Amino acid sequence: MSNVAVIGSQWGDEGKGKIVDWLSSRADVVVRFQGGHNAGHTLVIDGKVYKLHLLPSGIVRPGKISVIGNGVVVDPWALLKEIETVREQGVEISPATLKLAENATLILPCHSAVDGAAESARGKGQIGTTKRGIGPAYEDKVARRGIRVCDLAEPDILKEKLERLVTHHNALLKGLGAEELDHEAIFKDLQDIAPEILSYADIVWKTLDDAQNTGKKILFEGAQGMMLDVDHGTYPFVTSSNICAAQAATGAGISPRHIGYVLGITKAYTTRVGAGPFPTEQENEVGEKLGTRGHEFGTTTGRKRRCGWFDAALVKQSIKTGGIDGIALTKLDVLDGFEEIKICTGYELNGEKIDYIPSGQQAQASLKPIYETFEGWSESTEGARSWADLPAGAVKYVKHIEELISAPVTLLSTSPEREDTILMQDPFSL
Ligand code: GDP
Ligand code: IMO
Ligand code: MG
Repeated sequence: MSNVAVIGSQWGDEGKGKIVDWLSSRADVVVRFQGGHNAGHTLVIDGKVYKLHLLPSGIVRPGKISVIGNGVVVDPWALLKEIETVREQGVEISPATLKLAENATLILPCHSAVDGAAESARGKGQIGTTKRGIGPAYEDKVARRGIRVCDLAEPDILKEKLERLVTHHNALLKGLGAEELDHEAIFKDLQDIAPEILSYADIVWKTLDDAQNTGKKILFEGAQGMMLDVDHGTYPFVTSSNICAAQAATGAGISPRHIGYVLGITKAYTTRVGAGPFPTEQENEVGEKLGTRGHEFGTTTGRKRRCGWFDAALVKQSIKTGGIDGIALTKLDVLDGFEEIKICTGYELNGEKIDYIPSGQQAQASLKPIYETFEGWSESTEGARSWADLPAGAVKYVKHIEELISAPVTLLSTSPEREDTILMQDPFSL
């Protein structure tokens, strides 16, 4: 029995939350290993909707351990607020079930302030970040100025580090014409919440080592998607962390040998929130129809998601760079009733045919998709729970995708509801 890592294969919002929640019935521990509250993962269980940002999507299942790994950037106020909201929905959360890595980096008010100010300063070159402070917090981490969960237990160190950090950010904020911040006020606010945050603090690498040694099954939950990976995505229109499965090892503190099967969550079409290249985008009635049928509005910012056809070349690339073994294909039901469906199999760039997304910004923006046209199906796939319930046209579409991306579809999702899921192969057994 192996562990399983779930990562997004497109630009995020592929339905990772739903699949992680579904798979977590087979796991003992669910671990977030990168990103922060820029993520928005929606679970629908018997009609009840849970929106998670920082909490692992296994949190709603009693008896599971939820872990926020060291690779996550954590806004402590956002975390406490989310714990409260989810508790109000009847979910039990306690230090026995939620573990926060003591070496995780904190997102502080200076990070969201700089995120917002830097976006405004980019003018036409805006990334369209979530303005949650994700990028600036990761910058501080690698610049070795970051403040970590464990610093909350050492007030003298915290005070000293905070003063240096805020001085650094104030220089930036001043230069960007934004309001400066007071390090003493942030110190006081942090002291107020330190006891509660520290109650969840944990030596996560040890917890995971124990879990591994006692035969527990670990499910690693990625946020965002491979095209937002800081190395392999459509840079600079990306997030500030690595999304690839390899990050599950560094972002949790576990051997890469223990990652196990890597499941790439993949939407049956493509969406993107924020700016940046999107070769198969449909700024027409097709895009509108996909957006309306798929309810494509961001869980975190409420922004309308850009929509387009399935891009097999893009997913194939994500499979390679992300280390994906097989995919969970979601939102197949959104394609019901389309007379014809297009699938991108490669691109034309400056008169040449290529089967990959190049790294250059101008090259990425100039890609012209090459499409195959596929006959749609008129029957409904919505809520289908077995392969036999699917219309022949939908089965053909899934099989064709498998061929184009050279990877198996191990799970299929046919509605937002937890149980509207078709299992072809149990990833924990692969
Ligand atoms: P995540 O960020 O990858 O977890 O995805 P989000 O939760 O941000 O966005 C996916 C949206 O699609 C959510 O509203 C889900 O409830 C919904 N969803 C997930 N799977 C399916 C599916 O198979 N069909 C439909 N129609 N909706 C789905
Ligand atoms: P989940 O986990 C979709 C996008 C933002 C922006 C870019 C950088 O729900 O799939 P950031 O705030 O991270 O610096 O923004 O990344 N982005 C996401 N898009 N789903 C997400 O998460 C995202 N997290 C960040 O829209 O384009
Ligand atoms: Mg999302």
